[in-house]
Amino acid sequence: MPKNLKTKELAQRIDPGYFARSHPMRRWRRIANLVALGAALVWVLGLTAAGEERMFAAGPVSVRHLQWENDCTACHTAEFGSVQDGTCLVCHEVPAHTGAGREEDPGCTSCHREHRGRLTLAIVADSQCNACHEEHDDITLFSNHPDVEADQGDQQLLFSHAAHLNPELKEGPLDCAACHVPDRSGRSFAPIEHEAHCARCHALGYDVDLRQLRAPHGLQPRDLQKHLAAAYVEALRADATLRERSGKRSPVPRGPFEPPEWTEALNTRTAAALRVLLPPAGAGGCLLCHVVADDEAAARGIAQPAIPTDLQPESWFDHAAHRFQKCSSCHDMASNRDAAEVVLPSLASCKNCHKPGGARDSCSTCHHFHR
Ligand code: HEC
Ligand code: HEC
Ligand code: HEC
Ligand code: HEC
Ligand code: HEC
Ligand code: HEC
Ligand code: HEC
Ligand code: HEC
Ligand code: HEC
Ligand code: HEC
Repeated sequence: MPKNLKTKELAQRIDPGYFARSHPMRRWRRIANLVALGAALVWVLGLTAAGEERMFAAGPVSVRHLQWENDCTACHTAEFGSVQDGTCLVCHEVPAHTGAGREEDPGCTSCHREHRGRLTLAIVADSQCNACHEEHDDITLFSNHPDVEADQGDQQLLFSHAAHLNPELKEGPLDCAACHVPDRSGRSFAPIEHEAHCARCHALGYDVDLRQLRAPHGLQPRDLQKHLAAAYVEALRADATLRERSGKRSPVPRGPFEPPEWTEALNTRTAAALRVLLPPAGAGGCLLCHVVADDEAAARGIAQPAIPTDLQPESWFDHAAHRFQKCSSCHDMASNRDAAEVVLPSLASCKNCHKPGGARDSCSTCHHFHR
């Protein structure tokens, strides 16, 4: 700076319009701002005119609701206000949670939170469950989970896995699939049926003289008796040696079956057959597998078997997801001799795979909130 300059001279050097005049940079910035604002306005107006409302939203909606992303009113029925459960229920039919009524369930949106991105809404944090299931104090699969004990009730059926899995079984050896055929979903198994799974080895013969005679399966004793009588008529008509052994040489008459001497022989044989199939004391015949119904003991009625296909109704299991595991890794049937006994794996064994870093371990892996 030159020496000895007066204050006045100094002042003349300063441009008095400096602050009033816009700097070229600032001017360009302002112009740019206006252009951007204008462009945004045009874009907003354009999209609104085209029915696009997405830019007002708080964030992208979940994957399965994508098609309503632009139709805010599909969920936001009230102009300003939170989404009501009733709106979700317009499209969804979900049962209330077991035990708790719908009034007690927290609102849908406390578990299914929208505008969090292209997520799967059904993935819900375990903490949402623990909010109510505090009686077990912060359940995780690894701690405080209630004990699991299955009970299949009285199946009214006699069966021994050990007897049938015996490698020395004459007709065997049987594998699990001989009786447990996966159902359509692969999740569980088709029901056990006498005809498909038992009949080939347990034929229901009842007369040593007439080995070809087989009782039909599934009848109650009264109907069975009628069937046996009718079957004997046919047999006696067809079989001359049998007639001889019955002491009747004459051929059985055609037409209605009436002659009294034949009727007596028929009744004797039918009664004997019933004693084979439904022995008054002890097992054998139908009672190899069945028990007599309490309330029908006099009529020796067969108790209806009840073989359950869902042993843990309060949780979900999927056999198809575990099809690469040996059945015996979860069910040790080799020493199972009693149908009433249940042979299921412990929850502890699930944790070998269902753990952080492994297969899923959230509550909803095994429990469905909406059941
Ligand atoms: C599939 C249903 C659904 C659609 C479609 C939807 N929303 Fe939402 N929105 C929700 C839910 C659920 C919430 C949060 C819970 C509540 O409001 O009670 C929410 C919350 C909001 C919020 C509040 C911010 C927040 O995170 O709490 C805004 C703002 C919003 N939505 C705007 C929109 C706009 C704008 C659209 C249309 C472009 C839209 N939403 C479409 C379900 C939806
Ligand atoms: C306009 C109809 C409609 C409304 C309203 C609606 N949804 Fe949906 N939602 C659907 C359809 C369609 C699907 C896909 C169905 C499928 O995958 O079977 C779906 C799927 C879902 C799924 C399973 C998919 C996923 O991402 O996990 C959940 C959870 C869900 N909706 C929750 C809700 C909730 C909570 C609300 C209320 C905030 C709601 N929905 C409102 C139509 C609707
Ligand atoms: C609004 C409170 C509430 C919430 C939230 C809740 N539960 Fe429940 N839950 C109940 C009540 C009440 C019962 C019935 C009484 C009982 O057995 O404790 C029940 C019963 C159950 C049962 C017992 C079996 C059955 O179906 O009867 C299971 C399993 C279960 N809940 C799992 C869950 C899971 C998993 C979640 C989270 C996705 C969850 N619950 C969230 C209140 C709740
Ligand atoms: C000859 C037919 C037959 C064969 C072979 C068979 N099962 Fe069974 N299984 C049954 C019948 C009948 C029941 C119902 C009666 C009962 O609970 O014992 C049953 C029930 C079950 C049950 C549920 C009840 C329980 O006892 O836990 C399991 C699990 C089971 N079987 C596993 C197996 C496995 C694993 C194999 C192969 C190692 C197998 N079964 C082979 C006929 C068979
Ligand atoms: C491959 C032939 C075979 C099939 C199929 C079969 N069984 Fe057997 N079952 C046997 C033989 C052989 C025995 C005698 C085993 C013994 O005494 O050790 C037997 C014995 C039994 C016994 C008496 C067992 C005891 O220990 O008291 C019952 C009850 C029985 N079977 C029920 C069934 C039922 C129910 C089915 C169909 C779900 C079935 N079996 C399918 C061959 C078979
Ligand atoms: C080898 C074992 C076995 C023998 C022997 C056996 N059953 Fe069964 N029975 C079953 C099984 C398993 C079921 C359940 C599955 C089914 O209905 O096929 C059943 C079911 C039944 C039912 C219920 C049918 C229905 O429709 O629900 C009746 C009734 C019945 N048996 C009667 C008889 C009579 C009568 C005999 C003798 C003539 C007999 N059973 C012999 C295994 C046997
Ligand atoms: C990872 C363990 C696991 C494996 C492997 C497994 N099971 Fe199971 N099984 C279970 C559980 C848990 C249940 C009880 C689930 C339910 O019934 O709700 C069950 C139930 C059953 C039942 C009775 C209920 C029904 O669904 O009919 C039969 C029968 C059965 N299993 C047979 C088999 C056979 C056969 C195999 C091999 C092909 C097999 N399981 C493999 C865990 C397993
Ligand atoms: C040897 C490892 C292993 C064991 C032991 C095991 N699982 Fe799994 N499980 C898997 C794998 C792998 C999947 C499929 C991948 C997945 O869903 O994460 C699966 C899937 C499942 C599913 C289906 C989840 C769905 O979304 O459909 C259920 C339910 C399940 N397991 C329950 C159990 C239970 C209950 C036990 C214990 C009785 C058990 N698992 C034991 C490996 C295992
Ligand atoms: C690997 C599978 C699995 C996982 C994961 C799991 N459970 Fe369970 N849970 C079961 C089984 C199996 C039962 C017994 C169901 C039955 O017997 O019908 C059960 C039973 C229950 C019951 C009923 C207990 C009773 O006393 O009747 C509750 C409540 C429950 N679980 C809550 C939860 C909660 C909350 C979570 C998540 C933190 C969870 N479970 C995770 C398998 C699982
Ligand atoms: C306590 C948490 C919770 C609440 C509250 C809740 N859900 Fe869910 N929802 C779940 C879980 C966990 C799943 C995953 C599958 C399952 O567990 O059944 C699910 C699954 C769903 C699905 C998908 C079903 C499928 O089969 O894919 C729909 C749709 C759904 N919920 C709608 C609703 C609606 C509508 C409401 C309100 C009335 C609601 N949910 C309230 C936890 C909840």
